[in-house]
Amino acid sequence: MRTQVAIIGAGPAGMLLSEMLARAGIDSVVIERQSRDYVLGRIRAGVLEQTTVEVLRALGLAGRLDFEGHVHDGMKIVWSGRSSFFIDCATHVGKRFTAYGQTRIQEDLFAAADRRGARVVFNAEDVTLSGLDSSMPSIRFRVGGEARELRCNFIAGCDGFHGVSRQSVPAGAIREYEKIYPFGWLGVLAPTPPLDEIVYANHPRGFALASMRNPQLARFYIQVPLTDSVDDWPDERFWPELIARFPPGMAAGIRPAPPVEKSIAPLRSFVAEPMQVGKLFLAGDAAHIVPPTGAKGLNLAVSDVTYLARAFTEFYRAGNRAQLDGYSATALRRVWHSVRTSWYLTNLLHRFPESTDFDQRAQEYELEFLKASASAQRALAEQYAGLPIEGGIDFLRSAA
Ligand code: APR
Ligand code: PHB
Repeated sequence: MRTQVAIIGAGPAGMLLSEMLARAGIDSVVIERQSRDYVLGRIRAGVLEQTTVEVLRALGLAGRLDFEGHVHDGMKIVWSGRSSFFIDCATHVGKRFTAYGQTRIQEDLFAAADRRGARVVFNAEDVTLSGLDSSMPSIRFRVGGEARELRCNFIAGCDGFHGVSRQSVPAGAIREYEKIYPFGWLGVLAPTPPLDEIVYANHPRGFALASMRNPQLARFYIQVPLTDSVDDWPDERFWPELIARFPPGMAAGIRPAPPVEKSIAPLRSFVAEPMQVGKLFLAGDAAHIVPPTGAKGLNLAVSDVTYLARAFTEFYRAGNRAQLDGYSATALRRVWHSVRTSWYLTNLLHRFPESTDFDQRAQEYELEFLKASASAQRALAEQYAGLPIEGGIDFLRSAA
């Protein structure tokens, strides 16, 4: 098999990159370890920055999003059962964000791939990369018991945090920055009306978050110890705990219903530098992980592949390598701003086991200041709503 760009991973990063390259007339093959249904079965993020929506719209992939997505001017913060305050991104920075499940985006991307007859190999086993510094790198894998080799000009590692790409670079080629948080998030998806806004709650019992997928499908999270498992949280324990972490007036809007999904995820911040080694370019979770507090993971995957698609387009159309050589530095600027924002919000809103009374007071006065200061709220709004994609996305509109 031969292609111009081999893409490892059929998640949001890999499938969106494949779509963008196809619009530019650049051939790619996506190699995915899991089945298509397995990828579609993952319940993940659900908040799209305005730039993400604009990217999808430029590709003509926002039809269902415009119909089903829930547009928000901002989000609420409440702490210690006190009255909430609203970070109004629309007023402060003129940007809104949209609640629309990652699963829906995955469905939309697979449908677009089917329409163009994209080459996506599912159930690929023993995927290995070679020749990262050669003129013809290649991917070897097995599918249906048959050994295959894909020769290419470039490899895009879109295979997530646990993927093979980042592990394939020579020792010392990548420096890793990591922070592990001493708690996880228990997430629940339940067929019950959500609250009217996305609400972040800092409570003495721990962090909680109320979000949504549509008017009949709510998404809730609570901070739990890393030692907990889903079995420790039967419905009869989860719902009262969630309700206890919101002010009574707000909690009254939470109506328990048997969840359709329940899972626990650890929280970490992680960045790999550089995001490019030889002919391998890392994008999305393969290059960085953020705690979900800032809802940045999916949005960073989108900005990474937008930069990468623009660089490949410039290379194949004009023979200009400048944007390819500059990909890592460009992507990392937006990555680190989002990583810092996610770290800041995680420290602001969670209860840390090792916090002292002083730490707790300092956290509460950070929240007091944020509640009282329009300039503090504007600064947070600017980061939460998402920084611009440098250089814009006009190349997508001209390609579409
Ligand atoms: N070979 C082929 N495919 C692989 C391999 C491998 N060795 N390892 C992992 N994969 C696949 C996974 O099965 C998955 O489908 O790569 C894909 C990576 O997708 P994601 O983990 O969703 O990462 P990404 O596309 O960067 O999207 C980031 O997804 O995980 C969420 O919170 C994250 O919202 C963010 C978004
Ligand atoms: C979600 O809806 O899944 C969600 C919303 C906001 C976050 C994280 C997750 O910060």
